[in-house]
Amino acid sequence: MDWLETARDTFRRDQVWNFMMPKEVHVDVSKDVILYVEDLNVSFDGFKAINNLNLYIRDGELRCLIGANGAGKTTLMDIITGKTKPDSGSVWFGQTHNLLEHDEASIAHMGIGRKFQKPTVFEAHTVYTNLELSLKTNKGVLPTLFARLSQTQKDRIAEVLDIIGLTEQQQMDAGSLSHGQKQWLEIGMLLASDSRLLLVDEPVAGMTAEETEKTAALLNSLAGKHTVVVVEHDMEFVRSIARTVTVLHQGSVLAEGSMDDIQRNKDVIEVYLGEEHAEQAGAA
Ligand SMILES: Nc1ncnc2c1ncn2[C@@H]1O[C@H](COP(=O)(O)OP(=O)(O)O)[C@@H](O)[C@H]1O
Ligand SMILES: [Mg+2]
Repeated sequence: MDWLETARDTFRRDQVWNFMMPKEVHVDVSKDVILYVEDLNVSFDGFKAINNLNLYIRDGELRCLIGANGAGKTTLMDIITGKTKPDSGSVWFGQTHNLLEHDEASIAHMGIGRKFQKPTVFEAHTVYTNLELSLKTNKGVLPTLFARLSQTQKDRIAEVLDIIGLTEQQQMDAGSLSHGQKQWLEIGMLLASDSRLLLVDEPVAGMTAEETEKTAALLNSLAGKHTVVVVEHDMEFVRSIARTVTVLHQGSVLAEGSMDDIQRNKDVIEVYLGEEHAEQAGAA
């Protein structure tokens, strides 16, 4: 066995040394709720961006979050992912993890993944490599030169490629994918990193009608195995995926229910849908 073989053997990814092994994070969803947001408040220079917000997300659900610009959607995601600390209130991941006690890296490690509106894939790497780099055991620890993927990891990548519909494109550079394909790859990267709760910001902005439809199918297929919270403006899209819609307004929950409930809700029509329709009419 030459030195390279020895090194490779040492760095086999299915036999990682204990200190390198990420600890499995147990999320207690025995009450069927994976995310608790209670009495949340945050102000920026005296302006209340989040105002006594309460939100409960069930394990495995696909939730849509809508609301006009400035309603607090992004700020809420910033707080859940540890980017912004609230002034008061609580945020729990399952029964036992107080997210306000953790930083961004630790929250990501617990299994909360965020997809920003602009795709952030590694353009110069292949689709396959992008997924490989997202595998949890691979995060910045093992030199790729020596490491081999375990069969389990290869199977997982194949599975993710299938879920996101990019099996045929796996050896393409991510940079040459279409806008929609990049978005799917980024969702795939969250799946490869074992994210259990996915926060997805405006996934269909800039997509073609066909890509939008595929994205709806993709997010629908994730529900059950993953919990997905989607921020989206495209109401047609929201209708096609949401079981429950939460409407944010001035940092609070204005209404929550099925798409039909929401579209009939007088408050929602007045402050959000009315406004959107007026904008559309104005733009037409
Ligand atoms: N870091 C910040 N500093 C000051 N004001 C902020 C900051 N982040 C957000 N805001 C303000 O908080 C409000 C809510 O913003 P945001 O959460 O981005 O809304 P949404 O995503 O729903 O459009 C807005 O009025 C915004 O200008
Ligand atoms: Mg926003």
